[in-house]
Amino acid sequence: MEIKLRQENEKDYKSIFQLIEKAFENEEYSDHKEQFLVERLRKSDAFIPELSIVAEVENEIVGHILLTKLEIKNDTKSFGSLALAPVSVLPEFQGKGIGSKLILYSHKVAKELGYKSIILLGHQDYYPRFGYELTNKYGIEMPFDVPAENCMVIALNENGLSGVKGRVVYPSAFFE
Ligand SMILES: CC(C)(COP(=O)(O)OP(=O)(O)OC[C@H]1O[C@@H](n2cnc3c(N)ncnc32)[C@H](O)[C@@H]1OP(=O)(O)O)[C@@H](O)C(=O)NCCC(=O)NCCS
Repeated sequence: MEIKLRQENEKDYKSIFQLIEKAFENEEYSDHKEQFLVERLRKSDAFIPELSIVAEVENEIVGHILLTKLEIKNDTKSFGSLALAPVSVLPEFQGKGIGSKLILYSHKVAKELGYKSIILLGHQDYYPRFGYELTNKYGIEMPFDVPAENCMVIALNENGLSGVKGRVVYPSAFFE
């Protein structure tokens, strides 16, 4: 199975919307509104076109990942970082490595664009394989009341998180 990864374009919006809806349909910890979140983020200042990426198999969009800008702030400093949310693969294509490919490719593009780290809220068994660690190891605090084991961060280069401490400020589109 050949999996092609590329930046989304306007013609993909409808397929991406439907794919996200289907991917999260049976997810217990989902509000089933992730497809609307992506639409809001696209229109926001947090959006980075190169970091809305699709996976195609035989010209069908089967996966999508979005990374948007966020800030990690403390009393004296503010650090730019990224939010990984959401990542989605069509149910019938799950478990074939597409999610992994999207995540690793998004890291590569983010790094090329000069971003130093990525933050996410996600399943503790899935993301550590890509190098994600708990945010509390770094003194990075999430703005939600969620279990610490689900709050994760990755440095995209050696010093990506050196000196970075504070509270994560997500784009306002996450709360609308
Ligand atoms: C999470 C998701 C993107 C992973 O994509 P995928 O293409 O199925 O993942 P891969 O094939 O690369 O990896 C499969 C591995 O991930 C694990 N996995 C997949 N979804 C998981 C989840 N929600 N929690 C824990 N582990 C998960 C599988 O058990 C499998 O583990 P194994 O390699 O040890 O057998 C996909 O399952 C999906 O769209 N899920 C619904 C939406 C969702 O929950 N998104 C994440 C929250 S933002």
